[in-house]
Amino acid sequence: MRIPDNSNIVIFGASGDLSFRKLIPALYQLYVTKQLPDCFFILGVSRTNYSSESYREALSLALIEHSDVDEGTLLTFLEHVYYLAINTSDENDYAKLSLSLNDLYNHYNTPYNTLFYLATPPSLFTVIPECLSKSNLLDQGDGWKRIVIEKPLGYDLASAIALDKSLHHFFDESQIYRIDHYLGKETVQNLLVFRFANGMFEPLWDRKYVDYIEITGAEKLGVEARGRYYEGAGALRDMLQNHLLQVLAMVAMEPPAVINADSTRNEVVKVLQSLKPISEDDLKNNIVLGQYTESTVQGDNMVAYRQEPGVANDSRTETYVAMKLFINNWRWNGVPFYVRTGKRLPTRVTEVVIHFKQTPHPVFGQNAPANKLILRIQPDEGIMMQFGLKNPGSGFEAKEVTMDFRYQDLADEGEIDGRLLNAYERLLLDALNGDATLFARSDAVQACWKFVEPILAYQKGKHALHGYACGTWGPKEAEYLLQVDKRSWRFPCKNLANTQYCEL
Ligand code: BG6
Repeated sequence: MRIPDNSNIVIFGASGDLSFRKLIPALYQLYVTKQLPDCFFILGVSRTNYSSESYREALSLALIEHSDVDEGTLLTFLEHVYYLAINTSDENDYAKLSLSLNDLYNHYNTPYNTLFYLATPPSLFTVIPECLSKSNLLDQGDGWKRIVIEKPLGYDLASAIALDKSLHHFFDESQIYRIDHYLGKETVQNLLVFRFANGMFEPLWDRKYVDYIEITGAEKLGVEARGRYYEGAGALRDMLQNHLLQVLAMVAMEPPAVINADSTRNEVVKVLQSLKPISEDDLKNNIVLGQYTESTVQGDNMVAYRQEPGVANDSRTETYVAMKLFINNWRWNGVPFYVRTGKRLPTRVTEVVIHFKQTPHPVFGQNAPANKLILRIQPDEGIMMQFGLKNPGSGFEAKEVTMDFRYQDLADEGEIDGRLLNAYERLLLDALNGDATLFARSDAVQACWKFVEPILAYQKGKHALHGYACGTWGPKEAEYLLQVDKRSWRFPCKNLANTQYCEL
């Protein structure tokens, strides 16, 4: 456990949902577990008219409501929290911020080490750095200054490049921390440890032994209250361009020489830059876009996407995408990666399935099961290996059996510290420690945009959009995508060992 040097956090958008639901609770947990430095302050900045006292009260209510807090510890934590109401897009208001920061730096006697977290709409990602710079807040004292931003990191390749250009005007790349919260998940990081700490899997991890790979990011919820945002995003921008491609990179990358920000991210970007560009044929044959329709699930009426608040009643935004893609490199040449994500599917599950090839000669018949390795990212985090064993009785029939490992069992047996860091705790801690390994680098973000650009262009036109009933695994066409290759998706259930089609 590495405790950051004395440092401070300035949160822009401090009155918003992200701050209340994720950031402050994560900082509180880090405080409780003694992972914050001895001297630190948190300054919330937003337009909303709070005083420091009323902001603390609002946070206190939210923390008590949403998490298990110790009221005494909460009080001491909140003593480190301050609030300043300014118009964050008005350069003149930054004089007030400068005064507040100076007071706090003096009061806490901290070095000027400061993390600026932009929990704001993306339109402010270019405005706030410029105002900070003009007010000399980026070169105050000799402490480090870092900036944290989170998706959407652009809307397409051109806007992502423009955003990077604007940020690089004020920050060096090493000062920019782009959050992809999937990289903060313990089980996504475990992909690296599982692959590179064990000698037995890596030799099989390539085109010679792997038949195909599935990556599923299924969600049970619909778009909830985010219809307005989602209309402009869709499943492609919301999940595939970022989270799922980052997971894919972890599965497919070469071993880094060392685990640090440069070495690891160099390997990540190589994979993303090797994604086979999408052709006209791929658009027709290898991509399925869908949208959920009204249906009844276990007696409950579920509204169609088009009936959700903030959504146009003739919307053509996809809430589901499935695709087959390839990686043009030595290791993966010719191995299909099938990736799917969607809302209103039967359950919430994120997993990677490595399907190994059949044995070269089928001594036990064509039906002997091929080996599968299932890496469950959430929920029921774990790893499951499926292989053939002899079916008891006469003859030599091979039957599929499962060996599984669940993190929860380790916790139950007291072998790991019961509580894992959640994604925001881990990422905030890393940003304070200056470790960018788990943050998306600009070239990786751009490689992802470059890869999805043809699909975005296709999506703008009169593309085929397939309806699927809520509570199903998406359009039938997504099944055909694998059927034509004589393969099929795994239909996972919440229970790791249950591979049957899962009804709600
Ligand atoms: C977010 C998307 O980035 O990730 C959401 O905007 C999605 O639409 C969420 O629901 C999924 O995250 P998780 O951690 O619940 O898998």
